Amino acid sequence: MSNKATLEINGNTHELPIIAGTENEYALDIKSLRSDTGGYITLDAGYKNTGSCESEITFLDGEKGILRYRGYSIEELAEKASFLEVAYLLIFGELPTNKQLERFHSDIRKQSLVDDDVKKIVDAYPRFAHPMGVLSSLTSALTAFNPSSVNVDSEEDMYNAIVKILGKFPVLVAWTMRKKQGLPLGYGDNTLGYVDNLLKMMFEKPNEEFVHNKIIIEALNKLLILHADHEQNCSTSTVRIVGSSHAGLFASLSAGISALWGPLHGGANQAVLEMLEDIKADGGDTKKYMAKAKDKDDPFRLMGFGHRVYKNFDPRAKIIKKSADEVLGDLGVEDPILEIAKSLEQEALSDPYFVKRKLYPNVDFYSGIIYRAMGIPTDMFTVMFALGRLPGWIAQWREMRLRKEPIGRPRQLYIGKTHRPFKSIDKR
Ligand code: SDX
Repeated sequence: MSNKATLEINGNTHELPIIAGTENEYALDIKSLRSDTGGYITLDAGYKNTGSCESEITFLDGEKGILRYRGYSIEELAEKASFLEVAYLLIFGELPTNKQLERFHSDIRKQSLVDDDVKKIVDAYPRFAHPMGVLSSLTSALTAFNPSSVNVDSEEDMYNAIVKILGKFPVLVAWTMRKKQGLPLGYGDNTLGYVDNLLKMMFEKPNEEFVHNKIIIEALNKLLILHADHEQNCSTSTVRIVGSSHAGLFASLSAGISALWGPLHGGANQAVLEMLEDIKADGGDTKKYMAKAKDKDDPFRLMGFGHRVYKNFDPRAKIIKKSADEVLGDLGVEDPILEIAKSLEQEALSDPYFVKRKLYPNVDFYSGIIYRAMGIPTDMFTVMFALGRLPGWIAQWREMRLRKEPIGRPRQLYIGKTHRPFKSIDKR
């Protein structure tokens, strides 16, 4: 295998080093392209062919439908690990020992209070505010209440900021949901597990004893693991580029939450449920929506289908689809939406338009069906995605800072007006 590529421009030959990854992936190193070629850059809208970094965190193979966190398969982690174990693995690179996990969880519990003044920010929002907008601003507001989390150059300072956000974020998630429901904003119970505590904060009622449901705890643990990281997706790239200016961790995460909100990204899980509801209201006419998805003049897309990287089944979608059947069955929930989703999937998987474009169900196609069965409101689905993705964002931000990556600042190809003299208003 050659370790150099050659590029010929105007009769001049330029060599580009080839860098090999650990999974038979190769990259052309173009860091000196512009200086070597007298100004040539590459152009790649959406970065479909451009790597932004080298990373040791997550590997995915879109053709084979492989997803691994630090070398462990998503299938094994989803079955055998806890969300906090996976968070530790993603952030620090190894599965924790019992002692390490206990210390990590204890440090997180110590940080699981949020300054009561943050409630004034929550109260300032109208109840119809979208939870993702509220969550993004509350996450950024944490910087004001935790100024020591901004300038984090040492690993110890980073660790302190990391356990702070892992402790406080579930509280913000619960407050964001409860505010819309007119419920009191409280705190969790540090005697509970991380996921169990989150569910209690989200669903407890002041006048009832909270009933812990093992099925829901296990299902949410699995969903959060499946969402925990996904290499350089839109929101993770946002966290990395904001963090590359040495903005604090919380500010970087706040930006990532905003990027995830978009319906082409994490917002798709909400959009899938709304689409399935529309189809149900339309008498289950899936063919009409398939036709809309294929009509170039119609902006409608089949939400929950397609992926920038997976040109085969999204391995997470396979696991979530199986879990949807189990959870709804165990909870005794009959949801016609699940049947509509399955028939839509079957139709799409045999439709030439989708087959030719390799459009398969992605992580967002079935997840909302489970969230709904858990009693989570539709507009909170992307907030749940953000909670799942939190350890991945943290891990990627920490890797970027520890590797001392340069500030992100892409080039452009200017195609605007060339120089022209100013024209006074009476001559325009
Ligand atoms: C996530 O990157 C990640 O890792 C993201 C994520 C993560 O874990 O972080 O996996 C989470 O964001 C999953 C994706 C959720 N989004 C959706 O489900 C929204 C619907 N999907 C699409 O918008 C689309 O598939 C994307 C955005 C996911 C991917 O878009 P690409 O890679 O830019 O592909 P494209 O838009 O260039 O589409 C290629 C072709 C086009 O048709 P042609 O111009 O070739 O004729 O496929 C068509 C598209 O029109 N197409 C679809 C479609 N998705 C792509 N047509 C109908 N319905 C769709 N869903």
